Amino acid sequence: MIERLWAKFGKTSSQPSEPLATDNLPQHVAIIMDGNGRWAKNRGLPRIAGHHSGMKTVKRITMAADRVGIKYLTLYAFSTENWKRPKAEVDYLMRLPQEFLAIELEELIQNNVQVRMMGYKGGLPDHTLQAVETAISRTANNTGLVLNFALNYGSRKEMLGAVREIAAAVQRGELSLDAIDEKTMSERLLSSGLPDPDLVIRTSGELRLSNFMLWQMAYSEMWFTDVYWPEFTEEHFLEAITEYQRRARRYGGI
Ligand code: IPE
Ligand code: IPE
Ligand code: MG
Repeated sequence: MIERLWAKFGKTSSQPSEPLATDNLPQHVAIIMDGNGRWAKNRGLPRIAGHHSGMKTVKRITMAADRVGIKYLTLYAFSTENWKRPKAEVDYLMRLPQEFLAIELEELIQNNVQVRMMGYKGGLPDHTLQAVETAISRTANNTGLVLNFALNYGSRKEMLGAVREIAAAVQRGELSLDAIDEKTMSERLLSSGLPDPDLVIRTSGELRLSNFMLWQMAYSEMWFTDVYWPEFTEEHFLEAITEYQRRARRYGGI
């Protein structure tokens, strides 16, 4: 089984010291893709060159996740706070989904990947939304890896939205206070229908969550690396999964 898993990687990947077990894979991996700007700066390039390079990592890691057998891959692409950045950078980031999908959509379709989006559509430029919605509808009947882009996503906004919906339902008399439980909340989050992330990866050395899936990460395993996103490879991804497999998840038990 392990040999077969490695065979899938072919010559493109070197085998780490410890082979990856296939019986304890994280079902949902979420990644805070960070460090594009610093990667570019270190090379004397404009920040957008870092974002362009990061797009290639998105492809690389999507394919790796698919080959390994991950079921859900959520990628934090743009936060509700990233609008604070200079307009030229925001404009470039908003063109990336089109650019990425123009190159990769056919291959994603062939690989049975389901593209999804988790975030606020309001505020996104039409061209960005159109590209994403085309990808979502063209992959809607696929049954493989769920590739979930967190685009214009913010966890506090998401939770406030859920709280408002719940309060309104109570006000209308459709929901009693006693009936509110964790499921009531989860069902009203943008991640509704997805399992909570088992493993959260953040690149670039920052040790924070930056408003990403705060509710959903209650019991996620965290893995941080100093590597900038454009330099994040399949080997790093497998290292994170291997480390995940060494951990004991206790959920408060013993
Ligand atoms: C991550 O890289 C991409 C987005 C947040 C859109 P950054 O652009 O945050 O890169 P750094 O953190 O400035 O290096
Ligand atoms: C988090 O990165 C958001 C994304 C990766 C899309 P940031 O670069 O925006 O986070 P901070 O500002 O360093 O916390
Ligand atoms: Mg950053």
